[in-house]
Amino acid sequence: MEDEKVLVIDNDEAVCALIKNVLSTRGFIVHVAQTAKVGLHLCDEHRCGLIFIDLNIRDFDPYYIVREIKGRSEATAIILLSYPDGANLVQESLNLGAADYLYKPLKPEEVFFKARHALELRRFLSNNSKALKGVEERNLSLQKQNLLLGRRIEESTKNLSKLYEDLRETYMRTIKALAHAIDAREHHTYSHSDNVTRYAELIARQMNVEMSYIENMKDACQLHDLGKIGVQDSVLSKPGTLTHEEYDAIKLHSEKGAQILEPLNFLGNVIDIVKHHHERWDGKGYPDGLKGDGIPLGARIMSVADSFDAMVSPRPYRKVGLARQEAIEEIKRNSGTQFDSKVVEAFLKVVDQF
Ligand SMILES: [Fe+2]
Repeated sequence: MEDEKVLVIDNDEAVCALIKNVLSTRGFIVHVAQTAKVGLHLCDEHRCGLIFIDLNIRDFDPYYIVREIKGRSEATAIILLSYPDGANLVQESLNLGAADYLYKPLKPEEVFFKARHALELRRFLSNNSKALKGVEERNLSLQKQNLLLGRRIEESTKNLSKLYEDLRETYMRTIKALAHAIDAREHHTYSHSDNVTRYAELIARQMNVEMSYIENMKDACQLHDLGKIGVQDSVLSKPGTLTHEEYDAIKLHSEKGAQILEPLNFLGNVIDIVKHHHERWDGKGYPDGLKGDGIPLGARIMSVADSFDAMVSPRPYRKVGLARQEAIEEIKRNSGTQFDSKVVEAFLKVVDQF
C-alpha cells in the first residue's frame, strides 16, 4: 500500500533517523535518502505515498524535486522540511503542490501528526479524483447515448414525415380523382378543374402571391366543386333555366365541399378557399355573403379563373362557349362588383397565356 510507505530525503542523517524511528514504530515502512539523486531513485522504486523533502538539500534545486515527484504522481503527499528562516522557500514549494511543512528541529509527535494528516488528505483527494473521474466517464457515456438517441429520433422523425407526406399525397390523389369525376358530370370533360388551377396560378404569380399560398390555392382549385357530389345529374346537366329550388341546391355545393374536406385538417386554408369561391366582391355571393378583402384571396382569384373557364366552355344550355374576347369583356364588366379589381387587373395581364 502506498499509504504505508514513506520516503525521507534529507542531508541530515539525524533527521532521517528521527522520522524513520517515529513512523516505523507506528507501522509505516520508511525509506531514507541523504541526497536528492538517491531520493528520486527510491521514489521510482518504492512508490511512496508520503515524501519528506529537505528544502536545504545540496545536490538539487528543491523546487525541481517537488516538481519531479508531483510529475511522477500527482497524488503523492509531500511534507517540506526547513528551518524557520526558509519560510519563503516553503511558501513557493507549497504553491507547487506540497501538502505541508515542518520546521527543524523536528518534534516527534508533530512528525507523526503531520504525516497522518498529509496521508488522510491524500486519501481524500485521491477518492475525490476517482469520483470525479467516474462522473466524467458517466457524463461522456451519457453524451454518447444522447447523441445516439438524437440521431434515432431524427431518423424516426424523417420516416414519420415521409409516411405523413405519403399519406397526405394519397388522400389528395383520391379526393382529386373524385373531384375530377364530379367535374366531368357537369362539364363533360375532365379539364375544368385543371384549367381553373392553371389560370388561377398564372394570376396569383402575376400578383406576387407567396408560393406556399399558391400551392394551397391550387389544391383548392382542384377540389372546388367537390360539393356537387350531392347535386342530381338532372340538375347539373339541365339544358334550360334552373328553378329557384334547383339553383338553391346548386348553391349549397361550396359549403358542402368544405364540410366534406373539414376532417382533413392538414388541408388548412384550402378548405376556406373552397368554401368561399362563390363569394362576390360586393358581398352578394354565397354561402356567407363575405365582402371585399374579407373573402380569402385564393377564393377571389379562383372566382375569376372559374368564371372565365365556365364562360368559354360549352354548357348544358349552350353547345358552344363564348368567344375568348367576349368572356374577357364580361370579366372586365364585373370588375369591382363580382370580382376583385386587382385580380381582374392581373387576369388581363396573363389571359394571353391561358
Ligand atoms: Fe363552384
